[in-house]
Amino acid sequence: MEVSVRESSLGRHKDEAVVLFQLAGTPIRKSVGSAGAQFRAGYDTLVRRGAFTGAAGQVRTLTGKRDDRVPTLVLAGLGRQGDQSRNTVRDAAAAAVRAARDHGASSVTFVLPEGRGAALSATRAAEAIADGAVAGLYRFEIYKSEKSKSAVETLTILAGSGEGKRVQRAANEGAILGECVCVARTLGNEPGNTATPTFLAEQAQALGDEHGFATHVLEEDEMRDLGMGSLLGVSAGSVEPAKLIAMTYEPKRARSKDTVAIVGKGLTFDTGGISIKPANKMEDMKFDMCGGAAVIGTMTAVARLGIGTRVVGLVPASENMPDAAAYKPGDILRAMNGKTIEVRNTDAEGRLILADALAYATTKMRPRPRAIVDLATLTGACVVALGDQNAALISNNEPLADQLLDASSSSGDALWRMPINDGYRKQLDSPYADLSNLGTPGAGTLTAAAFLENFVGKVPWAHLDIAGMAWTSKTAGTFTKGATGFGVRVMTRFLQHWKRG
Ligand code: BES
Ligand code: MN
Ligand code: ZN
Repeated sequence: MEVSVRESSLGRHKDEAVVLFQLAGTPIRKSVGSAGAQFRAGYDTLVRRGAFTGAAGQVRTLTGKRDDRVPTLVLAGLGRQGDQSRNTVRDAAAAAVRAARDHGASSVTFVLPEGRGAALSATRAAEAIADGAVAGLYRFEIYKSEKSKSAVETLTILAGSGEGKRVQRAANEGAILGECVCVARTLGNEPGNTATPTFLAEQAQALGDEHGFATHVLEEDEMRDLGMGSLLGVSAGSVEPAKLIAMTYEPKRARSKDTVAIVGKGLTFDTGGISIKPANKMEDMKFDMCGGAAVIGTMTAVARLGIGTRVVGLVPASENMPDAAAYKPGDILRAMNGKTIEVRNTDAEGRLILADALAYATTKMRPRPRAIVDLATLTGACVVALGDQNAALISNNEPLADQLLDASSSSGDALWRMPINDGYRKQLDSPYADLSNLGTPGAGTLTAAAFLENFVGKVPWAHLDIAGMAWTSKTAGTFTKGATGFGVRVMTRFLQHWKRG
């Protein structure tokens, strides 16, 4: 989406719909008046009745006449500003642009947040607005015979005189980020009968060709030669061939010599395998490749933004199916790093496909990655622990965890750190093999992380369990119903600011 920036104050041009932001308890009477005298009374009434206070998430629409200079005015609340202001602006812009679309607007103009509490620079606000608006407008309609009629085609941000260029650059970056979040969403929303491992590999290839990263796909023969018995074990029951998708972004002007690897679970449909899942909500397991989708979306973002660090993205992609050829409880698999794994539950498959991808990243890749971050819809236990508010962050390295938490706080992708220690590691002991793929009851998210740790050697590593964040049943803020694209924003910001710990 093109986002244009206009150095102009409000009310000078014809604008089909204008969005004004309001901080909690800080009325914006003057701006409302500049949008058009016809809005004054309506605004005053909303404020008097307490129907618009500027609380975060609040959106109200005032309509004038069709030939007014501004026919539709959208008021969006920002709450109280503080550390999280980029996130509230992003969410408010998303909700506001949807309200404008519902009122039939095809073009929407944003006024940057104003007033004393505006803790945000014009550029940061513009980036958040463009990102939020693009992501907020997302709809997945590929399979609908009748598409929605309403559509917003142009976004404009009003800037102060002299700052247009800088604000334009920031808005472009925000729009790119929003579009890459949507790339991940579409991969996630595609059903399992379309989004196979082969499809994911083709999509990665096409995105790399278009935006500037190289894609190499390892086929099952190559995986066998490399000894990836863990990934191949999971895929054994599927007629769809597994793929290990390896993407490389080379910066044109490197800011650092380091390579950072990001690894995403690309389980294109998780039936549970022989340890089969119950039927209720099993359809949601088409989203079990959302970690992989976030990695592909992030590769697209870093290439389009031209960041200064070399990034390798790895997506182990497979189905998990019950079948005569499927792996079974009790089977012992051997991963690429030689470790043997007793399969006690074929539904704990995510860690098995990640094991070989992580071992590949730490032992085969040249140059060696300085850090590895994996993203996975790994455990139902994470949904129990953190719900739909945070993804879990588990790491063996303090500086890496800190950088991820920093990137998280301003990106809107919320992370909450959880522990890893010998107590959890011991729960994976097996009488028959080096490791069991199942922990003893309790803390399933942490024993899953402790399992993955066996495959990263001494490389600084962090694991993000995004099981509660990867998809949603309701549209709110920048999230739209279905896959959320969670992870693209935090990983992109993390990689933009990467420094060796
Ligand atoms: N993909 C699931 C985890 C999941 C479940 C994500 C529900 C989001 C919502 C994963 O492969 C899985 O099945 N995990 C098992 C692990 C268990 C067998 C140790 C789980 O969480 O039940
Ligand atoms: Mn599973
Ligand atoms: Zn799974």
